[in-house]
Amino acid sequence: MSQPVTSNERMEKIVSLCKRRGFIFQSSEVYGGINGFWDYGPMGAELKRNIKDLWWRSMTKLREDVVGLEASIIMHPSIWKASGHVETFADPMVDCLLTKKRFRADQIDAQSGIAYFYEGASDDGAGKTINESFSVLLAAGKPPESARKVATQFYRQRGMAEPILQGERTEKVENTTRYNPENGALLTEPRQFNLMFKTYVGATESEDSVAYLRPETAQAIFAQFKNVLDVSRQKVPFGIAQAGKAFRNEINPRNFTFRSREFEQMELEFFIKPDEVVEKQCGATAKLEGEGHPGEPQPNWGWEVWHKYWVEERINWYESIGLSRDTLEEYWQKPEELAHYAKACVDILFKFPFGTQELEGIAARGNFDLSQHQKHSGKSMEYFDQEAGEKYVPHVIEPSAGADRLLLALVCNAFDEEEVVDEKGKAETRVVMHFNPKIAPIKVGVFPLLRNKPELVKKAKEVRDLLRPYMNVFYDDAGAIGRRYRRQDEVGTPFGVTIDFDTIGENGPELEGTVTLRDRDSMKQERVKISDLLGIILPQVQ
Ligand code: GAP
Repeated sequence: MSQPVTSNERMEKIVSLCKRRGFIFQSSEVYGGINGFWDYGPMGAELKRNIKDLWWRSMTKLREDVVGLEASIIMHPSIWKASGHVETFADPMVDCLLTKKRFRADQIDAQSGIAYFYEGASDDGAGKTINESFSVLLAAGKPPESARKVATQFYRQRGMAEPILQGERTEKVENTTRYNPENGALLTEPRQFNLMFKTYVGATESEDSVAYLRPETAQAIFAQFKNVLDVSRQKVPFGIAQAGKAFRNEINPRNFTFRSREFEQMELEFFIKPDEVVEKQCGATAKLEGEGHPGEPQPNWGWEVWHKYWVEERINWYESIGLSRDTLEEYWQKPEELAHYAKACVDILFKFPFGTQELEGIAARGNFDLSQHQKHSGKSMEYFDQEAGEKYVPHVIEPSAGADRLLLALVCNAFDEEEVVDEKGKAETRVVMHFNPKIAPIKVGVFPLLRNKPELVKKAKEVRDLLRPYMNVFYDDAGAIGRRYRRQDEVGTPFGVTIDFDTIGENGPELEGTVTLRDRDSMKQERVKISDLLGIILPQVQ
């Protein structure tokens, strides 16, 4: 039975396990860390690789209509002008006038209370006056002294030893986002802050050599659309998939790895015919009928059905790796929230302990991106559709997911603490990660019952070597067997194989060549033949 714990406690336990068991470390920890950057330890590296491999497999290897791309991180800066990132990829930021702490203006929760306004301060002893106004927000009922204390600190920072506050007045305010929620101090006016990391290419640091670390993987796909089309013999509708690093100088990285400054995206640009072309060819575009997956792609699908198709495909994929539908939510953006060129956008959200937040966005982006690159590069992005007998700039559906966010979701989803009874009948807490076997970092633990029995060790190593070419195996001969099981439970290893005296025939020939196979979730053990092990485990872990 899981223990009732608050969301914060749960998150703290998850963060602590991630460090303790080598899933996620703070980047540059020995130097005090660097905000917004994270490293994956031995378990995290395997988990992330499994996520990306499974995404790649489902998107490219198991489909005939999607091909892959692996583009450079730094690209021609004109790409980011054409895409609109140089002009508009910005968040509004504000700074606390007292502590200088920076916030994203649109992430500040609205507050109500009494605002205390000051016109300035004077220091009679030093004969000094400051005419800079300042204000502090207090929750209703809090003593005015708290506001005065904050204001006094503010004027002290401006060089006054003993400030006497001038012109205090109060006003009731409702739903304001102008004050620091942590100390009530006034914030600066919002300023736009471009999230792209800038660098210089070549030996001169000038405006002409500015380049950007890509803030998304998608633009390379648009920029290489023509090259990929020429070499892959694909016909619209078809897609190009890419997974790789993206960088955003987030104003306020938070919630562990959820909002990082360096992360990996897994993006598909799926190019489709404009609806007018489908209408000409098929008479009309198909209408969305009912809920759920619209089925196998059809020639009369317009953007709406394709969009729904990708939303359902992606949710099915999340389910296949262990995030059940009840852990997910769909958020259909309202018309006023959509970018001007977008026709629809659905966010797939996961119920994280710190709130229900976006894992992936699936947007119907029209032909905005290809048209922009056509305009800025002067190169045609048109496709000649032989069946339709006409040229057009294809439209696109974009399922865009984050590998790090998904890893965090899978870790949060898998984490559990159970009350169990050990071999001696003592109650204990079992920490277990219920990863779907397909994404689990280690697939099977192999344990000789005793490490000082050469026959057991020899057999266990044979079993390890039998399984190793096909899956990630962890061999462990240290400590009591129960402890070894617990260690693997904590990193989510779905299977444990124990080589005991039955295996080596010490208790008669019937059980010789058999081992116990332990299931992580039920903790049940069954005896199976070594020769059957691969056939039992492999289909479940791949
Ligand atoms: N090309 C579209 C695009 O980039 P986005 O919603 O900005 O869309 C897509 O990003 C996905 O990338 C998000 O759903 C999220 O999973 C991931 N992502 C975006 N910013 C992130 C960040 N700062 N840290 C971690 N993941 C992030």
